[in-house]
Amino acid sequence: MSKVLYIKANARTDVESRTFQISNSFIETYKEKNPEDEIIEIDLYEAGLQFLPKGKMNELREAVEQSDRNHPILKFAYQFYDADKYVIAEPIWNLGIPAILKAYIDYVAVGGITFTYTEKGPVGMCHSKKAVNIITRGGDYSSEPVESLEMADKYLRNIFGFMGITDFTTIAADRLDVITEDTDKLLQDATNKAVKVAEAF
Ligand SMILES: Cc1cc2nc3c(=O)[nH]c(=O)nc-3n(C[C@H](O)[C@H](O)[C@H](O)COP(=O)(O)O)c2cc1C
Repeated sequence: MSKVLYIKANARTDVESRTFQISNSFIETYKEKNPEDEIIEIDLYEAGLQFLPKGKMNELREAVEQSDRNHPILKFAYQFYDADKYVIAEPIWNLGIPAILKAYIDYVAVGGITFTYTEKGPVGMCHSKKAVNIITRGGDYSSEPVESLEMADKYLRNIFGFMGITDFTTIAADRLDVITEDTDKLLQDATNKAVKVAEAF
């Protein structure tokens, strides 16, 4: 039985969000294919995340040394470490990920839990795990000069890789805010891809 962490990062609700329309289809298909698996859904707007607290970083380090799995911040890192698979869903915002998702990454990328320091530098501790990132974007970042401006999917791919999760698939719906586009078709194409990926995930 696998544990799947479904990480949702958007101020829009399930009904409003085009990203969640795709990611929820992914999850539904995954559930049908893997009824015995555990899906843990975290809506980051409901999870009570803050920025890392000022003046408390030493306290946090001590809690890592004591392996305090109930610590209000570290519990997210342990939950992340315990998962086998990750499904992340977010829109691109201002060329990057929504700030709440960055706050979550700051909670889970913890030395001593999801990565460790060695004489050769930091090494990821999350082995044999895989991730799917479901992202929607108003624009199109498929070629230069704008390709290198995209720092949402790229950032997640890098930080997941940093924690040891290098099996990372992206499902993207692009050009959703280009007024001449058939948005319904773009969303349907991305949803079809999501269903296909979910069947084999
Ligand atoms: C605050 C904000 C910032 C955005 N920044 C970008 C951006 O930098 N690049 C882009 O292509 N689209 C940008 N968009 C458009 C969204 O990424 C796009 O409309 C997306 O499909 C919204 O997904 P949702 O329906 O799940 O909320 C932005 C939207 C918002 C609300």
